[in-house]
Amino acid sequence: MSHTCDKDQALYDELKLVINEKKKLRNPLIEILHKAQDIFGYLPVEVQMFVAEQLEISLSKVYGVVTFYNRFSMTPRGKYLINVCTGTACYVKGAPKLIQMLSEELKIGMGETTPDNMFTLSEVRCVGACSLAPVLVIDEETYGRLDTRKKVKEILNRYRG
Ligand code: FES
Repeated sequence: MSHTCDKDQALYDELKLVINEKKKLRNPLIEILHKAQDIFGYLPVEVQMFVAEQLEISLSKVYGVVTFYNRFSMTPRGKYLINVCTGTACYVKGAPKLIQMLSEELKIGMGETTPDNMFTLSEVRCVGACSLAPVLVIDEETYGRLDTRKKVKEILNRYRG
């Protein structure tokens, strides 16, 4: 496979190193896809094809895994990834309502990115801050007790600058 852009080539080279290193593991696919997403920011079909070729497995197998786990994304992500915790404690304390508020404020659904490419809405499992439920994480920053629209708006405004 040829990749015309130099920057892309460097990313594919990096991915190739990861694949060679992880190949020996028993079930390397998920870990490799994780790294691939870190490297490329998302998992477009071309990257999935590359992984499939390198591991000598079918594209449909790779695609199946990518679409099964919502931590994988096939579309480019926004500048800020909003990870809403949907672990048990957060769920019970109002994660669904928090998701609904975010969705309304950003006018996007779960897994989607705002048209200005600022925010992507995503969900994660317990981030270890259950006492602050419901919780969301943006970059490395954790925000808790997000039970009102006012608090949600305040956080978004911080990132909107
Ligand atoms: S369940 Fe959300 S932080 Fe633990």
